[in-house]
Amino acid sequence: MINSFTPPDRRIAIVTGAARGIGAAIAGRLAEDGHDLAIVDLDADACADTVATVEATGRRAIAVAADVADEAAVIAAVDEIATRLGPPTVLVNNAGILRDRTLGKMTLDDWQSVIDVNLRSVFLLCRAVLPHMRAARWGRIVNLSSIAALGALGEANYAAAKAGVQGLTKTLAIELGRYGITANAVAPGFVVTDMTRAVAERMGMPFDDMVAEMAKTIHVGRPGQPDDVAHAVSFFADPRSSFVTGQVLYVAGAPKV
Ligand code: NAI
Repeated sequence: MINSFTPPDRRIAIVTGAARGIGAAIAGRLAEDGHDLAIVDLDADACADTVATVEATGRRAIAVAADVADEAAVIAAVDEIATRLGPPTVLVNNAGILRDRTLGKMTLDDWQSVIDVNLRSVFLLCRAVLPHMRAARWGRIVNLSSIAALGALGEANYAAAKAGVQGLTKTLAIELGRYGITANAVAPGFVVTDMTRAVAERMGMPFDDMVAEMAKTIHVGRPGQPDDVAHAVSFFADPRSSFVTGQVLYVAGAPKV
């Protein structure tokens, strides 16, 4: 039997951690691509700019407050989105945090909070959205990994979480392909956002100096911008990408393996 899956007329996308940075750029790009958007972040008020960006394209947007590491909050958020906007069939797991310390100094709380926000959340969101995707017999899951998945100084917690995201993504691809659902990961390198700005601050380094230093190590000679990542997410979310699943795309201005 040959399966053929048709996207729903209205494509409704969830982007987590979309109040700012890469998530905000992804939400804006998916709106341009014709999606209505649920902007999920810790604080709904902080999502106002992203909501306005989406609405400026003529698409609908709602802000939903949820801690993506909290099982009950995730279930409630997905229920709210389905009621207010319609059944979600595109899910971008973008929310993430850093708690960098070398191993000897890393506390269990540093470890656990990073695993919970970057990895447990992906499991929780995918599981909560799955019934809607299965009912539609169509879905697109895109998870944010990182080049840190290949190993990164001071990031045992983050590297483990982002490598875990890759294994989870490939498993989802294996389990869900038969329902017309694809799952892929985007693994950015250095991208200019508040997250990297905070790293420079912690190191006591002017951000411009850090950007200049990083650019020397990036083959295309510049740091990444949120729109670079949004473009890759858009490709995976596209209905025409139905034969691409279980992949990890490094968006890093340099080859990565
Ligand atoms: P950011 O720190 O600028 O934005 C992250 C957003 O996630 C914030 O709006 C924050 O409120 C939200 N968030 C944090 N914890 C949350 C929680 N428990 N529940 C709901 N929302 C929560 O980060 P950025 O740079 O935009 O990163 C986005 C994603 O890209 C993350 O998964 C990050 O790990 C990944 N990434 C970023 C890179 C970079 O260089 N900026 C490089 C590689 C990966």
